[in-house]
Amino acid sequence: MSTASAPAPAPARAAPPAISVEAVSITYHSSLQARGQQTLVGTLSRLRRRKKIVKQVKAVREVSLEVPRGTVLGIIGANGAGKSTLVRAMAGILPPTSGKIEVHGRVSTLLALGVGFDRKLTGRQNVILGGLAAGLSREQLEGKYAEIVEFAELEEFMDMPMRTYSAGMYGRLAFSVAVNMEPDILLIDEALSVGDAHFKRKSFDKMRELCEAAHTIVLVSHGMRAMRELADEVLWLDKGEMKGYGPPPKIIREYQRFMKVEEDDAVGEEDV
Ligand SMILES: Nc1ncnc2c1ncn2[C@@H]1O[C@H](COP(=O)(O)OP(=O)(O)O)[C@@H](O)[C@H]1O
Ligand SMILES: [Mg+2]
Repeated sequence: MSTASAPAPAPARAAPPAISVEAVSITYHSSLQARGQQTLVGTLSRLRRRKKIVKQVKAVREVSLEVPRGTVLGIIGANGAGKSTLVRAMAGILPPTSGKIEVHGRVSTLLALGVGFDRKLTGRQNVILGGLAAGLSREQLEGKYAEIVEFAELEEFMDMPMRTYSAGMYGRLAFSVAVNMEPDILLIDEALSVGDAHFKRKSFDKMRELCEAAHTIVLVSHGMRAMRELADEVLWLDKGEMKGYGPPPKIIREYQRFMKVEEDDAVGEEDV
């Protein structure tokens, strides 16, 4: 019809990735003197003496990646590798020391079990407060409430203070709230191991459902099976650095080989 020589625009490319992480480093500065008994007077006198010993931990080093909309990023790595730190930064809880994180969409987080619940309040109160904090209206919450409770299988316990809950009950409610908020972006840190075998199965199925429903998910896990089945891409962190990044089977294979070698080498070696 016309002179169609100009390259066609690529409309789909216009949408930004759900999460973009650009050269992010995160360093913790922890005061070593915080050990021992913590009395107010003691703390004050230490402060006055200014005997400050600060230990720096570079938990995340120069990590860059993008999580496209509707994909699942898995993060693996040994204890202390920086997985939780990176996810906390994605959640906006922890600012990067350097670099930049951009997030497009409504985030729901399930971080290291139970952050966000107040144990003095009842399950019902926590669910409602959590929902309001996540930006749901009262009407939306009304609809969601029953679903959340049913999924968690805690009908009889919702009016009891959460301090009376077992760890499993606590985790079940946390998981149920996070997955039922219909977030655009779901960040889950090691939470597939919550509850008994029956609930694990259920959580896994729910996760798969969310993954298939084009949600963007970041999943931190030790479970390689979950990673293989759910993740589109896997990031392997080692001492804060990106040791691998790519298709799950490849990265998991490399990780497992590496961990095996580490184990064989680790004769009397201390965790640094
Ligand atoms: N609040 C904190 N203060 C000081 N150091 C921390 C803090 N949280 C984590 N770290 C340290 O940062 C490193 C990464 O921890 P983390 O992100 O929890 O690793 P992972 O989740 O992979 O086990 C570890 O060396 C850990 O000891
Ligand atoms: Mg962790």
